[in-house]
Amino acid sequence: MITRFSRLVLNTVSLQGTKQFYEELLGFEVAFESDDEIRFRPTPDFELVFLEKEEPLTPAHIAFEVPYSAFDEVVALMRERGIPLSKWPDGRTMDRYETGQNVYFRDDNGNLLEMISHLYVNEDGWQSSGPLQIMYVREIGFPVENVAAFRESLVDLFGMRLTMVSDAFTFAIGGTAHAVIASVRRRWIPISMVALPPKMEVEFQASDSAFVGRVREKLSARGIPFSFEEGGALAFTLEGYPMRLLIGGRYE
Ligand SMILES: [Fe+2]
Repeated sequence: MITRFSRLVLNTVSLQGTKQFYEELLGFEVAFESDDEIRFRPTPDFELVFLEKEEPLTPAHIAFEVPYSAFDEVVALMRERGIPLSKWPDGRTMDRYETGQNVYFRDDNGNLLEMISHLYVNEDGWQSSGPLQIMYVREIGFPVENVAAFRESLVDLFGMRLTMVSDAFTFAIGGTAHAVIASVRRRWIPISMVALPPKMEVEFQASDSAFVGRVREKLSARGIPFSFEEGGALAFTLEGYPMRLLIGGRYE
């Protein structure tokens, strides 16, 4: 099975601006930096990588899970640090609902980020990292032309389970990883942001090699090209999104 997201690679047009945002404002640890790349480690087992490219940017959507009991404290710290929270049309910034609460904000590249917490997540089972107390990366958004086709691929290839299924939206879930499958014609809440497909590479952690072997067979059966990379990661592209399946922790 898929157990979690382990890496996300995005583009930036300014490594310096991105470092100022993620390191200084969000307190993310910098694991590596070079002339054209910076890698942040918001948790010990996830890397958020930015590559500096001379290309237009298309914003991605990422949600970080924080402890429910610490949510107000996390939001207060964000306000104190001057991070502008995105507003709903009625002017509120925080959304509280039956199972959780969240706030949205944007980084220096226009990516739509989210801090989210859920009553049903057992906080004791997780280590929180950094000043924003992040437990794990919960969501990565995948705007697609055909929501139904993409979710069926994720179910068939990865055995992901689905919730909130509609023509325009679906969560595909594997472990803590929630792939937010959104129609390119549905705008991102809360700021009605056009859902352009971002240029990104997503790496999932797989539970074991037998699972990765089954994914490989299904890719073959569907005629989807794949390769094995250094460290045993299975690499392929789905709906224009480069993906990797990794066995064993990259950072352990
Ligand atoms: Fe979200």
